[in-house]
Amino acid sequence: METKIIHPNEINIAIEGIKAGELVAFPTETVYGLGADATNEAAVKSVYIAKGRPSDNPLIVHVSNEEEIRQFVGELPERACKLIASFWPGPLTLIFKLKEDSGLSQVVTGGLSTAAFRMPNNELTLKLIKESGKVLVGPSANTSGLPSPTIAQHVFDDLSGKIYGVLDGGACQVGLESTVLDLSDANNVPVILRPGAITQSQLEAVVGPVIIDNHLMNDSEKPKAPGMKYKHYSPNTPVIMIGQDTQWQEAIDSYKQNNQKVALLVNNEKVKELVNFDVKYKLSETKDVKEAMSHLFAGLRALDLENCDVIFSETYPEKDEGLAYMNRLKKASGGKIYSK
Ligand code: TXA
Ligand code: MG
Repeated sequence: METKIIHPNEINIAIEGIKAGELVAFPTETVYGLGADATNEAAVKSVYIAKGRPSDNPLIVHVSNEEEIRQFVGELPERACKLIASFWPGPLTLIFKLKEDSGLSQVVTGGLSTAAFRMPNNELTLKLIKESGKVLVGPSANTSGLPSPTIAQHVFDDLSGKIYGVLDGGACQVGLESTVLDLSDANNVPVILRPGAITQSQLEAVVGPVIIDNHLMNDSEKPKAPGMKYKHYSPNTPVIMIGQDTQWQEAIDSYKQNNQKVALLVNNEKVKELVNFDVKYKLSETKDVKEAMSHLFAGLRALDLENCDVIFSETYPEKDEGLAYMNRLKKASGGKIYSK
């Protein structure tokens, strides 16, 4: 199949594709999603096949308003209504217990009694959902294991020939996938299963105490979000984290001594102090975690095309947005940190 890049003014092509059970990637504020009608089992199955995704990893259902969730979940708990009022549309995914006869396919939920929902902050995609009359599954539109796509070209690079089209909405501003918050146990405190741009303290300001799933703090714990256990976000080039700001030049020199080709993923101010590397990708102008977050995946993809022996990457303290940034970078690097 020839994959179409669909311009915003051709959105009808995307809408017709979704209605016909085809796979259409869509833009969001976080990353591009691989869209299919969540109520069409055959279409959802083909999402797993196109991505090469393990079938026990459930999908997020993307909606254009709160009503679309109630058909699956029933009445929403009060704390959910508060979070929705504060953060939707936006980079927050909420996990709810499904009602008995929800009708949501096991192919979407991975056989769990809960499901994940999100309203993305992107006008084109909200229009796609409304005008197709379908709620959409939307895993990140990358081949499983590679960094998530933040421009339409990334989707095309991974999935060309395997999907009907990509609705091109330009670059995603947030650049990392949504915060996933588990609200499924009404008697318990909400749990962050995947950190994202909406931080623990932002959530707590709205609903009181929120905890972070143990596996995010302790590598030996089993994650509750099935997707968090898989290898992720890894380019083919080895990635090594630079833990201390003073180690950059030493790290570069140790590789150049062996005639290796070195790439840097770093802020522009730091790079001016460094010599002897081969390629750089600017994560931010001065050291800034939000800006770095939005360029991390694009940087990993761009540097991976340069045939280097190593990508050295900037680190941040694991708090607030830094928790999300480091969660993705640790996976991309397999936890490897530079030491002499
Ligand atoms: O920002 C995002 O969330 C993007 C955009 C496209 O919306 N989507 C995305 O989807 O990142 P995906 O499929 O790549 O990641 C969904 C995550 C996985 O880690 C999955 O295991 C978890 O959410 N998840 C989905 N349903 C769940 C459930 N019922 N219980 C626990 N975790 C769940
Ligand atoms: Mg993903």
